[in-house]
Amino acid sequence: MDTIEQFQHYVIGTYARTPLVITRGQGSRVWDDKGRCYLDFVQGIATNIIGHCHPAWVKAVSEQAATLVHTSNIYYTENQGRLAQRLVEKAGPGKMFFCNSGAEANEGMLKLARLHGQSLSGGKEGVRSNIVGAQMAFHGRTFGTMAATPQEKIQKGFRPMLDGFSFGEFNNLASFEKLIDDSTAAVIVEAIQGESGITPATIEFMQGLRKLCTERGALLLADEIQCGYGRTGKFFACEHYGIKPDAISMAKGIAGGFPMGAFWVAEPYCELFHAGSHGTTFGGTPLACAAALAVLDVMEEEKLMDNAARMGALLADGLKDLVAKNPDKLDCVRGRGLHLAVASKYNIALIDALRSNGLLAVAGGNGAVRLLPALNVTQDEVFQAIDIFGRTLSSAKLG
Ligand SMILES: Cc1ncc(COP(=O)(O)O)c(C=O)c1O
Repeated sequence: MDTIEQFQHYVIGTYARTPLVITRGQGSRVWDDKGRCYLDFVQGIATNIIGHCHPAWVKAVSEQAATLVHTSNIYYTENQGRLAQRLVEKAGPGKMFFCNSGAEANEGMLKLARLHGQSLSGGKEGVRSNIVGAQMAFHGRTFGTMAATPQEKIQKGFRPMLDGFSFGEFNNLASFEKLIDDSTAAVIVEAIQGESGITPATIEFMQGLRKLCTERGALLLADEIQCGYGRTGKFFACEHYGIKPDAISMAKGIAGGFPMGAFWVAEPYCELFHAGSHGTTFGGTPLACAAALAVLDVMEEEKLMDNAARMGALLADGLKDLVAKNPDKLDCVRGRGLHLAVASKYNIALIDALRSNGLLAVAGGNGAVRLLPALNVTQDEVFQAIDIFGRTLSSAKLG
């Protein structure tokens, strides 16, 4: 039985998988089981931010694997302390909680919202427990995060959803203004909606939300799982908007492909959690934190946020040029830094054709062909990707 047959027989079919068996990766390239090389602009869906198998990451993870992998959170471990300090230095006064995925990080923020609401209601539960989110958002697949994700394709089959969520129109401040009241504990938002096709929030929207939350006593929770961690050219996407959220979730890039999630909570709200109020067996293991520390080191040493801004601008320019030359096939380019999408009514066929020509891209909502390369992608690799994109548009039958 080959690998694809094994999956068909033994792996639950929750993914419409691409018929490609990837066996090896290095930097911005991967190889399939037939030895064919691809330029990887998916990178585990925005996850391997220092590329595949970066030597510094491999060294850190191998050494840590040979030293101490896991202890649980009933003990102190050095790497978690170091990582927490470095992330708090980036996010601002507050504290970190480490978990294992993006959905878990958002779950933690939703629980924070409940604790906040309770503290505003003199300790009474359920009075101020509502959460306002945005239409078209994606926050995860657990029951809490699914309830925060108002999309039929995500919620279908799993109702009833958790109570207490309402949704405003993304980038329409007036629609949020109507929803945020004295029953609202928090607002959760992505500064750039990722899964729904890379749609950036406007400055007015994000600044307006910050102001509304402050005025009405609700927490502003930023889901930076996809748009954060340097991908847009700044460490947090919210920095482009000149606002400080009260909590920020992170995952994807944080440990360079090793499963990890985290959330930061600003002072004084970080003190709402106490011993026993939240937890996870695996969160912040010495191994995951070693991977994450290596990612931060590489990001700093190789100035990867600058590279993301520069390479992102080059890639966006090349793609805009292709949009101008192919108005029948492409609609527009969206995004910031290396968080980019080209919109096309043929996005699925286009992604298949790009793969046949050696470039991996991933679909998103709103007709998106998402390009989410590693932050250390080179100029040559960006030009190669644009070249493959251009050749694919000229040769592929998309309609
Ligand atoms: C913005 C955002 N939030 C949350 C998640 C969920 O993360 P995970 O798949 O690690 O649970 C994702 C994953 O795509 C995401 O893009």
